[in-house]
Amino acid sequence: MEEVKILAIESSCDETAAAVVVNGRDVRSNIISSQIDLHTLYGGVVPEIASRKHVENINYVIQEALSQASVTLNDLDAIAVTYGPGLVGALLVGVAEAKAIAYAKKLPLIGVHHIEGHISANYIENKDLEPPYICLVVSGGHSHLVKVTDYGEYEILGRTRDDAAGEAFDKVARAIGLGYPGGPKIDKVAREGNPEAIDFPRASIAENPYDFSFSGLKSAVLNYLNQCEMKGEAYVQADVAASFQKAVVDVLTEHAMMAIDESGMKKLAIAGGVASNSALRKAMEEACKNKGVAFYLPSPVLCTDNAAMIGAAAYYEYIKGVRHGWDLNAVPNLKLGER
Ligand code: KG4
Ligand code: ZN
Repeated sequence: MEEVKILAIESSCDETAAAVVVNGRDVRSNIISSQIDLHTLYGGVVPEIASRKHVENINYVIQEALSQASVTLNDLDAIAVTYGPGLVGALLVGVAEAKAIAYAKKLPLIGVHHIEGHISANYIENKDLEPPYICLVVSGGHSHLVKVTDYGEYEILGRTRDDAAGEAFDKVARAIGLGYPGGPKIDKVAREGNPEAIDFPRASIAENPYDFSFSGLKSAVLNYLNQCEMKGEAYVQADVAASFQKAVVDVLTEHAMMAIDESGMKKLAIAGGVASNSALRKAMEEACKNKGVAFYLPSPVLCTDNAAMIGAAAYYEYIKGVRHGWDLNAVPNLKLGER
């Protein structure tokens, strides 16, 4: 089979990343320069700082990705880049860089949807995974339950009405004094807590049972903390973390299983930063096992932002003939399924 080598670039949030991916599934390098330590000082991602750091780091990250893959720009078949959704200033750095390389090397340019990238992370380690399947995508900015009907083709079954799952993790972590980044910290602390200690609400949406809502849960946690304070009682951080996490995991698992039951599909994948949550991984695995459904999940490093997933998604766009022009721009609110 002919090799299609793609250099992929990702800069939509606080990770500057580049990867060389061959035929969508063979990752030759995957370099991630995280700005987490810097943003931790401010308790969250500061967009202006993220953009500046991307500009500073991007050439080094690309150079390292090429070098670890033992290729040069002359060996590439295409340049792929995340062009939305995300922070506009951050996205622009990657888009401008990708355009410059594509222009200089006369290579095809492929703009990739960030969420499509997260979903495609599943192709890297699961060589047998092919559409159609159900995918739960849960990240810091998005929570979607989708039916992947073909490569790059999605039917959205449900989405969040308010906060994304990762956003809820981050906000609750801040409220219980864990700070940024909230997801991994809650994941860790929750291991020491009792998930049944506090009965937090599991929201359901009447008009579309596949939709999610996490703002009520977040408020319930804040109310609980306030009540403890008013009563002069100390709350148990690990119990709050574990009970909150259980409420999120229960809702995500229940909705995903409902989609499996109603669609009759036998394959379920999870993706996005929250998919690296250990309780969610375990609950989904068990639920799939009980139903005899094949369960797919990327390694944690491929769940959070990276460029290998962008290279995976880009390959399927490439073979479909998708090419972007020199007018490619960052689209901060790009919808899934839009090109
Ligand atoms: O996919 P991602 O890296 O960036 C976006 O596209 O948003 O997701 C980041 C989100 C953050 O909200 C972070 O707190 C959450 O994923 N996250 C986790 C875990 N690791 C990252 N949430 C729960 N448990 C984790 N282990
Ligand atoms: Zn992401």
